Order: sequence, then C-alpha cells, then structure tokens
Amino acid sequence: MQSLNEVNASAPAKIILLGEHFVVYGEPAIVLAIDKRAYASVKMRRDCKIYINSTDLGISGYFEKNRFTVEHGSQDTELKLQPVKTAVQRVLEIARKNVGVNVEIRSSIPVAAGLGSSAAVVAATAKAVSHLLNVELSNEHIFNITLESERLVHGTPSGIDPTVTTYGGVLLFRKGKGFKRIDVKKDIPLIIGNTEIERSTGELVSMVGHKQEKYPSIINPLIKAGGKTVLSAVSALENHDFTVLGELMNINHALLCALGVSNISLDKLVYAARKAGAFGAKLTGAGGGGCMIALSLPRKAKQIADAIEKADGKAFGAKKSDEGVRIER
Ligand code: MEV
Repeated sequence: MQSLNEVNASAPAKIILLGEHFVVYGEPAIVLAIDKRAYASVKMRRDCKIYINSTDLGISGYFEKNRFTVEHGSQDTELKLQPVKTAVQRVLEIARKNVGVNVEIRSSIPVAAGLGSSAAVVAATAKAVSHLLNVELSNEHIFNITLESERLVHGTPSGIDPTVTTYGGVLLFRKGKGFKRIDVKKDIPLIIGNTEIERSTGELVSMVGHKQEKYPSIINPLIKAGGKTVLSAVSALENHDFTVLGELMNINHALLCALGVSNISLDKLVYAARKAGAFGAKLTGAGGGGCMIALSLPRKAKQIADAIEKADGKAFGAKKSDEGVRIER
C-alpha cells in the first residue's frame, strides 16, 4: 500500500502509427498511447539529494548540487538519469522547495526501442513529484517539463513523445501546433516486433537532417509525401478501413527507407509480417533498430507474431490506451 509520504504515478508508452521523422519537419503524424506503462515512485529525503534508481536498467545514483555520484551502472549512467533529474528539479523550482527526493523507476516499456520509454519515465516522475510537493501541475506543465528533459537526450525532438505520454489516446500531432484527438471506436489490432537493437533517436534525427541539407530537392518531396500518407490515414482509421491503412503504412515505411532510417533487421520483420498476412507493416519510432508494427486481423495475430519471432524479432501485442499520465492510487 502507498504510504502517506510516498506517491506513485505512471505514464504510457506510445506507437507512432505513421509520420515519424517527417513530423520533425512540420508534417502531421498519428500516434497512440498503448497499454504498457512506466511507473515512478517518489519519496521526500531528509537531505537535498536527488536519488534515482531504475531496477530494470540496473542503474542508480544521486545528484547533489549538480554533481553526480554513481551507485550502480557505468559511464553513461549520469546521461541516462539526467532527464529524470531535470524533471525533478523543475518541479522543485515551481514548488519553491529545496528538498531531496528519492525516485524509484519501474517500467514494462522496452528501452531505446521507439516506444517512448524515456518520455513516459519523465512524465510519470514529474507528476509524482508534483503530488508529493502538493503543487497543482496542469497537463500542459507536465508536457513542457517532459519536452525540456527530452531535449537533453533527443536533440531536437518534435514533442510527439511528451505529448502522447501526457495526454494519452489516439492523436493527430503537429510539431508546435499541438494535437487533435482522432475518434477510433474499435481497437487497432497491432503487433509489435522488437529487433532488440538499441539506438539513439537524437543520432537518427540528425542523420536525416544532414540528408535533407545535402539533397533538399529529393528529401523535401519525400517529407511532403510522408505527411500526405498521414492525412489519408486519418479517414481510413476513423472508418476502420484497415486495408487502406495497411497500404498507407507500407508506403510510409518505403519513404522511411528512402530517408535511410530502416535497416536489415527491421526490414526482415516488416516483410515477414506482411508475408504472414498483415494488412501492412512498418518501422515505428526513430528506426535504426528498435521496433516495427504490423496491422492485422485479430485471427491472424498469432501467425504474424510467430513469423516475426522466426525472423529474430520479439513479438507482442499492444492495445491503445486512452489514459495519459496519472497518479496511481
Ligand atoms: C521518435 O519517437 C519520433 C521521431 O520523429 C523524433 C521526434 O519526432 O521527436 C523520430
């Protein structure tokens, strides 16, 4: 049971259905929160340290006056914990409190896999610390804190991960313009295939940036085409027309391949899923490894999952979730 001086909060993982990378250049993207969550459990300390422990990652340490001391982990532990610390610091500043905080993180979201694990951890932490300190933070506040922390790890993110983990649901997102909810009455039957190759979103975003600078007349039309697949997909989604949605996912994947963000491991899973009967399959998130998604009829889900596993991926199902960041009672 949660004691009075301990607060738990959680926030969901996400899947980008269509539009990753193109979204960084102002095109729309469709994103949904899914039923996998990150949890942050926070407590006040007697000293002024910000102590962070992630059992799943096997890393821990504390920040004190901006100096970091590692307890468990390796050289990059500070870098990995920095966004969580930034979120705690922002909430402390808003609350005008100078206290220490313990943060325990648990998560069922694969890390560095394109499912928005870092944004979910940060949003859950910001929400939990705000309740611990009795400050009323709006979702907009939580979003801004999460976006600022994401910038530390992802360079120039579009803000799509902080948005969906904060607000939940199925969203049509545009960088700098916020989001519109898409009304999807039925479930979206998706299977996720994880290559289990970790990669850095920041590096992939900047790689695409270099390509766009080098070949603007080629890359800019691809970006525009990416945006068009997204807009066509909105009505397919609202009408539950999975045949069209699947075709648009395949086109979107081809455009992402042209940007250079797919690789052989992802392509193997994508083609295995299509061959096993998926309406469509594509990488999701930044690419370069991480995850792909396949859209399928529920009765074909097992054969598609089996095909993904045979092609060396780790397959699991995901359901959309309408709930964004929340306090756990
Ligand atoms: C990462 O989940 C999605 C990217 O489009 C980057 C971003 O939008 O911040 C690759």
